[in-house]
Amino acid sequence: MSADGDSWPGTVVSVPRREPVNVCDLEVLTVTPTSATITWTTRSTWCGPVPYPLETDTQLWCSASGAPLRLVHDDPTPTAHHRVHLTGLEPGCSYRFRAVSAGVEARPSLRPTRSPTAPEARSQFTTLVPPPGRLLTTIAVTNDIHIGEHRQGIVLGPLPTSVAPTAQQCDYPQMMVGATLQELHAAGHPVLVVNGDITYGNRPEEVATAKQLLDSYGVAGTDWLATRGNHDHPGRTDPFGETFCPYQSLQSLQDSSGLRILGIDSTKGSGGGWIRDDQYEQIRSVLLADPDRPTLVTSHHPATNHAAWSSPSGPGFMLRSRDRIRLQSLEHSAQGVFAHVTGHTHRMKVNRRDIGDRVHHWENAACAAYPGGYTLVQVHEGGFMVNFHRPDDDRVREWMFRSRWQSLSVGAHIMLGSVHDRNHVVLADMSGLHPAGSA
Ligand SMILES: [Fe+2]
Ligand SMILES: [Fe+2]
Repeated sequence: MSADGDSWPGTVVSVPRREPVNVCDLEVLTVTPTSATITWTTRSTWCGPVPYPLETDTQLWCSASGAPLRLVHDDPTPTAHHRVHLTGLEPGCSYRFRAVSAGVEARPSLRPTRSPTAPEARSQFTTLVPPPGRLLTTIAVTNDIHIGEHRQGIVLGPLPTSVAPTAQQCDYPQMMVGATLQELHAAGHPVLVVNGDITYGNRPEEVATAKQLLDSYGVAGTDWLATRGNHDHPGRTDPFGETFCPYQSLQSLQDSSGLRILGIDSTKGSGGGWIRDDQYEQIRSVLLADPDRPTLVTSHHPATNHAAWSSPSGPGFMLRSRDRIRLQSLEHSAQGVFAHVTGHTHRMKVNRRDIGDRVHHWENAACAAYPGGYTLVQVHEGGFMVNFHRPDDDRVREWMFRSRWQSLSVGAHIMLGSVHDRNHVVLADMSGLHPAGSA
């Protein structure tokens, strides 16, 4: 960890300013074995629908637990959207920290960050311990990119349940995808799964824009795989099906490590989902042909009762009850299936499974809006690590500041998840794979 050696003074020094600054929204967004990304905002104390940003300096004080706090980041450049990426940390170690702007310590604002056990509330985080063995491959997952959407949130006419972008942000779905793809490309170009709600309404121009963006990342079926979400459901025509994959068809991809990815079409209509018998036959046939192959299953709709009954939208918004159990039973019957990742709820949440003790289920947050980003699944010989990332980009930060007020400002409390929901390690035997790119 870089440091300039200044010790934490113990008290906050006030900086003269014209109006009070709310130093808030503290989030320990991403924690890996050797790094942590800490963000916060400075905004007006006015309690309107959307407070306005106030630009100030950025300081982060940090140390290993038990040592005096030291100033490790000090940037006087005025900004309202503060982000510090700490590197060079030790795996499995606890660190204390203080995020400070305008002489005021940043405080958490959301329910998951104000929990007594949250790192933001305790001013302390612990780096992950990576899974045992060599890193074999990395898979990127993003979902709910909603190309063609004009407002984010639950659109109910004039009611303030959704957030409109500013004139400069009207292309926010493309902007969020573009920033994600750029960051993934720089991060080694992992195979990418775009897990549903790729368009807003399955219109030809939305599908064409999405395809163009994904083609800029690589070759369909090799570099990326796109599943269908409820927003991509067919109407009288099916541009999504013509461009990406026919309705209720299974997709399968194998990366250069030997890891298999299944993409299930779980869509039924505008909300809830189902899986038809003919697609179950496809899933069964692919799994039974090679049941021990390490396999990551993806579908837009979550597949657990935990997700169905904990979502504010209720079980009617989810995969049908009998499909949740049938799909989990099928996954349990193939020893190689190690995880199932979903989208749709726009939240980060680790799920409790209903069947067996092997398949790890989690819901992945939206790309298009708060918390806005993508997840990397790093697969080692002895397990895998899940980390949620937000692209490091000024336009992304500005849109996150705005889109977090969707659903009467309640949405952000539900969607961010805990630091564990966003960053965790699962031990599993992945020894059937070989390092990506090797023979
Ligand atoms: Fe969505
Ligand atoms: Fe959805």
